[in-house]
Amino acid sequence: MQLHTYNNPKSHISEAYRILRTNIEFSNIDKNIKTILMTSAQQNEGKSTSISNLASTFANLENKKVLIIDCDLRNPSVHKMFGVSNISGLTDVLTGQKDIEKCIEKTKVKNLDILKAGKIPPNPSEILQSKKMRNFMEVIKEYYDYIFIDSPPVGIVADASILAQYADGTILLIAANEADIEATKIAKERLEGVNANILGAILNKFEADSKSYGYYNYYYGSTSEKKKQKRGLFRRK
Ligand SMILES: Nc1ncnc2c1ncn2[C@@H]1O[C@H](COP(=O)(O)OP(=O)(O)OP(=O)(O)O)[C@@H](O)[C@H]1O
Ligand SMILES: [Mg+2]
Repeated sequence: MQLHTYNNPKSHISEAYRILRTNIEFSNIDKNIKTILMTSAQQNEGKSTSISNLASTFANLENKKVLIIDCDLRNPSVHKMFGVSNISGLTDVLTGQKDIEKCIEKTKVKNLDILKAGKIPPNPSEILQSKKMRNFMEVIKEYYDYIFIDSPPVGIVADASILAQYADGTILLIAANEADIEATKIAKERLEGVNANILGAILNKFEADSKSYGYYNYYYGSTSEKKKQKRGLFRRK
């Protein structure tokens, strides 16, 4: 897991994230897209990596304050992207054990804060659906220009469908060569079933020959990386 956009801002990977940011900014020009949920059908497709890099890119915009909330209360990992421990976070705030100010942390990326998941609860879906969570999301929106929500796979547990109600837009991440097409279709239907505003999809972990790709796909990877990667944002019809 790497924060390419911080470690290597001039790389093609970072450029791909900037293009993605621009696409998101322009995808709903009339709607104020402020809270963005990232999910995928299955595990391990690259949600936490992508949301951390994307949020960093938004934090690079002038005078924009950005927060990532790790709402994957089952397998939290945003803290790993930023090299910190998951001692306290969202669940501690929601259960009243810690103040929000004590749990939100600055990161090495200027203007980017994170709220880690905190202690793993026995009932994540219930917590995410609680009145406290709803109130929390209402309040926190006032303090940031953009809020990114990391979540578990929508095809496996209900959490991401619950979280979609707090988001102005949802991105469905699809890992090329790993994602199950049927599972991805079901994931999309699930999100539509809760009226999620699906902004688009990111094709992640895509390996291909640079020549065969069109405008929305960008080839990148460094010579030091064995695996070349590719991502693209597919816009909504
Ligand atoms: N574009 C990419 N190319 C190659 N490897 C990637 C890419 N994106 C993510 N990975 C790797 O895939 C693995 C899973 O990434 P990540 O933890 O971000 O996925 P996730 O969808 O959040 O997983 P989970 O469902 O467990 O939360 C990590 O080892 C990460 O480094
Ligand atoms: Mg994850």
